[in-house]
Formats: sequence, structure tokens, C-alpha cells
Amino acid sequence: MNGIKLIATGSALPGRAVTNDELTKIVDTSDEWISTRTGIRSRRWCAGGESHTSLCLAAARQALERAGAKPAEVGVCLVATLTPDFLTPAAACVLQKELGLPEDTVCFDLNAACSGFVYALHTAQCLLSAAPRKLGLVLGAEVLSRVTDFTDRGTCVLFGDGAGAAVVEWRADYPSLHAVLGCRGNDEALFIPGVHTGGEPHIHMDGQAVFRFAVEALPRCVRQVLDRAGLGLEDVDRFVFHQANQRIIDFAVKKLGADPARCTGNIARTGNTSAASVPLLLDELVSAGELRSGQRALCVGFGGGLTWAGALLEMA
Ligand code: UT7
Repeated sequence: MNGIKLIATGSALPGRAVTNDELTKIVDTSDEWISTRTGIRSRRWCAGGESHTSLCLAAARQALERAGAKPAEVGVCLVATLTPDFLTPAAACVLQKELGLPEDTVCFDLNAACSGFVYALHTAQCLLSAAPRKLGLVLGAEVLSRVTDFTDRGTCVLFGDGAGAAVVEWRADYPSLHAVLGCRGNDEALFIPGVHTGGEPHIHMDGQAVFRFAVEALPRCVRQVLDRAGLGLEDVDRFVFHQANQRIIDFAVKKLGADPARCTGNIARTGNTSAASVPLLLDELVSAGELRSGQRALCVGFGGGLTWAGALLEMA
């Protein structure tokens, strides 16, 4: 068997925290509605000189430093995102330049919305098996405040900005991620028009339709990953679920019969950061010592596409 393990993580959140009370000045909402319907209490939005690039760079540098790895050791660099600074060059190409990654590093961005980071982990595992250097730099990063419709109270209270990074290593004796990836093409439940599509370049979402999809996809993904790995819920040290809505997570935890203490998240402070959500939470858990060497995290993303992705990631 061959696969990847997590060596180190990093993260970057913008300096500006926006509370629910602050949002009541923009749209007709309340702290009570937002916190009880979603679990969100505040989120971070980029301001001043902060950008997708600055968040990616900070998160990537921190992860490399904590891994004790040099840029010259990286063979694959992937950024999962739907809000890069440029359509081209890719955010991963900007990282290649700024970090000084070798020119034969495979660098590209990947858009699988909120499932993007887990899609990218699996893609990195596949690419690293054939790469000359076995370290991968995998990021999930978003500046969703850029594509938020601040007149739509149904969406603008949900989203936040941030970047999370992971340094992973491929080895022939490391376990597979046992990844489960999927897509059910749907351009109505959740979409952002492209620059040439016409229409407002904002997040459009049928919240209830996505909610129904999410509460079915999340527990199904967990079960499928565990089946592939031949493991049970008790073999997982931490569940790292996309932070879309606390109610979605609570529903899935109950349906699965998982230990809620192993499923805690950070949505109260970050909001929904799409592709950044899983790596931001991973970094919080690793930094807090809640995910340690030899332990397993079952990561699941779900969202726009509609897409879903689950993978079992072990800490080196
Ligand atoms: O990242 C992956 C993709 N995204 C998701 O997974 C999100 C999935 N969906 C959700 O999390 C939830 O559907 C939302 C949080 C988006 C919405 O919660 P909901 O419980 O489904 O609310 P709703 O859309 O059914 O709206 C219920 C009521 C409506 O009022 P009426 O028609 O009942 O009078 C809305 O107008 O709540 C109203 N409402 C609000 N009220 C105060 C909607 N947004 C707000 C708001 N503040 N911000």
C-alpha cells in the first residue's frame, strides 16, 4: 500500500473579525437568528493589504517551517480555491515563485468548492507517487467576502475568509487516504457566475436544497471512507468536517452515532470558509495538541458542484 501522511499544518486568518451584531447594521438579521440557525458568531474578512495571495503565503510558510521542510523538497503544490486573486497565474504558481519551489514542481489550482481541500489531498497523493520529490504542499484558501452579496441576508451572514496549509509526505509504506470523491452536477442550488457568464458575480444559494444535500452526503461519505479502510468509527481520533452549518454537523454526528467530542469545530469563529474550512480546522486541532502523531483524522468536505469528498488522514 502507498499513501501520504500529514507532516505539519499552517493557517492564516485575516485580522478583521466581523461579529453577528456588526452584520445587523448591513442586513435585517440578528445575532440570535445567525447563531441558532448556523452556530456562527463571527467570521474574518480581508481588509487593507490582505489578499488571497498574502493568506496563502503566510499559511504555506508556517506549514513548511513547522515541517522543517525546505521549498526545494516540495514536488507538488496544489491550492483548492474558488476565489483566487488571478484566474491565471494560478495561486499555486504564485506560491512557486514566492516560496522558490523548484520549477519542476507540479503546481495548479483546483476548484471543487467546499470539497476542494479533500479533493486536493487525494490528487496530491496520486501525483506524489510519481513525483521526483515526495513532499506535497496542499492548501485550501478563500476570500469569500469578495463574492458575497451584502444585500442577501440568506448568504452574507455565512461566509468568511482564510487559508489553511498542509505539508504531506508520500511513502510506499504509508496508508492510503481511502478517499471517496464525488459530484452530482447542479448549477442551481449553489453557483457563482463567471466573468463572462453575466449576472451578479456573487454566491447564489438555495440554502434549504444545499442543506438537504449536505445532511445526506456527510454521513454517507464517512461510512464509505470507513468501509474502504476496513475501520470503524472508534478507530478515528478526530472528525474534521467542513464547517458549513453547526446544524448539519450535529445532524450527521447523531445519524452516525459518532462521539460528539471528536467532532468539534470552529465555525463559531470562522464562519463558512469553503475550501479553507477543513485545513483551518486541521491546523487548529494540531496546534492545540488535539491531533497528534499516529492519530487519524477523517476529513469530509461537501458543497458547490455539488461535490463531496472524504479521506482518512494520518499524522506522521
Ligand atoms: O458550504 C457548503 C454549502 N453551504 C451549506 O451547506 C449551507 C446549507 N444551508 C444552510 O446552512 C441553511 O439553509 C441556511 C443557514 C443558509 C439558512 O437556514 P434555514 O434554516 O434553511 O433558513 P431558511 O432559508 O429556510 O429561511 C427561514 C427564514 C426565512 O424567513 P420566512 O420566509 O420564514 O419569513 C428567511 O427569510 O429565515 C429568514 N432568514 C433570515 N432571518 C434573519 C434568512 N436569512 C436570515 C438572516 N437573518 N440572516
